[in-house]
Amino acid sequence: APGSPALTPPMGWNTWNSFGCTIDDKLVRESAKKMVDSGMKTAGYQYVVVDDCWFNPQRDAQGNLQGASGRFPDMKALGDYIHSLGLKFGIYEAPGAKTCAQENPNLTYRYPGSTGSLGHEAQDARQFAAWGVDYLKYDWCSSDGTLADQVAGFTKMRDALRATGRPIVYSINPNSYHADKTGATYNWSQVADMWRTTEDIQAQWPNVTGIVDINAPLAAQSGPGHWNDADMLEVGNSGLKPEEWRSHFALWALMGSPLIAGNDIRSMPADVSEILRNPRLIAVDQDPLGAGGRRVRHDVQENTEVFAKPLSDGSVAIGLFNRSDATTTIRTTASQIGLSGNSFTLTDLWTGDTSTTSGDISASVPAHGVAAFKVSGGTPVTRTTSSLVGARSNRC
Ligand code: DGJ
Repeated sequence: APGSPALTPPMGWNTWNSFGCTIDDKLVRESAKKMVDSGMKTAGYQYVVVDDCWFNPQRDAQGNLQGASGRFPDMKALGDYIHSLGLKFGIYEAPGAKTCAQENPNLTYRYPGSTGSLGHEAQDARQFAAWGVDYLKYDWCSSDGTLADQVAGFTKMRDALRATGRPIVYSINPNSYHADKTGATYNWSQVADMWRTTEDIQAQWPNVTGIVDINAPLAAQSGPGHWNDADMLEVGNSGLKPEEWRSHFALWALMGSPLIAGNDIRSMPADVSEILRNPRLIAVDQDPLGAGGRRVRHDVQENTEVFAKPLSDGSVAIGLFNRSDATTTIRTTASQIGLSGNSFTLTDLWTGDTSTTSGDISASVPAHGVAAFKVSGGTPVTRTTSSLVGARSNRC
C-alpha cells in the first residue's frame, strides 16, 4: 500500500503451519531466540508472527483484546522481548466477528468466543500499536460477503493502522474459506502491503505446485510495498521431501513472495536451516526491483517450466523447474529469459559455483527439483507482458 514499510517482501516466522492453536508465550520466545541463534536473523528474517488463537475468547469490560490467560500473560512484554532481540513483532486478527479458528465449524481446533475486530478496528489497532506490533495479519474468514465487503473491511483496518502513526506491515488474506473467492484476483495494492493469492498452503506437493500455478501469473501486480503472498513456507515440514522443500523455497524466491517460515525452527535440522538461509536465493527474493518472476516457458510434454525474474543489476534469476517424476535436462536460452549478448556468467544459486555460456543454459534437474541460476553479463531486452505470454504459449 502507499507508504508501505515493506519495500521488499517481508521475511519472518509464523506459528500457524506447525502449531495451529497450540501456542504460548514460551514457544514464541524460544522461536524468536532461535531465529537469532540459527542465523536466520542475519539471513534477513525479522518478523515473529503470532497467528490465530493468541487471545482470550472474550474481550475485557472495556472491549479490549487480551492475551489468552495462562498462555499469553503479557503481550506488551512479549513484544518487548522480541524487540530486545532486534526482531519485529507480528500478530493476527480478522475483519469479521470471529477469527478463522472461531468461525470455521469444520476445524478440529475450533476456538471459542467471538473476538474478531469487527466494530473494534480503531481500538484494536491502537492496542496493537501500544504493544509494539510491527506486522498485522488480517484474515478474512467469513463465508459470506461480497468483494465490496472485503474491500471495505480491509480498508477500514488499513486506515485504523495508519491512524496509530506506527509503521505496521499490513498482511491480508482475502481467500480462506471464502466461498466465491471474490478476493482472489483483486489487486489489493492500494489497501495492503501483501495479500494472499490462494487458499491455505499444505505440506503436500500438489498443493505447492497448485499455488505456483495461481500465484505466478499474477506477477505484474506485485512490487515494492505491495506483494503477492503465496502463503507461508512449509520448508522443513513433513509431507514434502527435501527436494520439494528446496523447490518450494526457490520458487517462492523467484516469485518474490514474502518468506515466512512455518516450521518448528527450534528443532530444525541443518539441511532445513541451510535452505531457509540460502543467501543467493534470499537476495533474489529481496531484490529491490521487486519484479515478480514469470514463467517464460512451459513444456507440457516434458512437464518442465522456466521461471525468470529480472534483477535490479540487469541480471536475471532463473529457475529450471522439473515438475515430472523423472530426472530431466531442462534447457533455456539467454534470449528466452530476456537477455541479449554473447557471453554470460551463470551463478548456481544453490552452490554459488559459476560458469560461462554464450547463451545456451541447461541443467539436469531431479524429479520435482528446481535448478536456479543468476544469469549476468547480458543486456536486458525490454519485453512487454504480451511477448512473455507469447514465449510461454509457444510450448504450451
Ligand atoms: C487461515 C489462514 O490462511 C491461515 O494461514 C491461518 O491464519 C488460519 N486461517 C488461522 O485460523
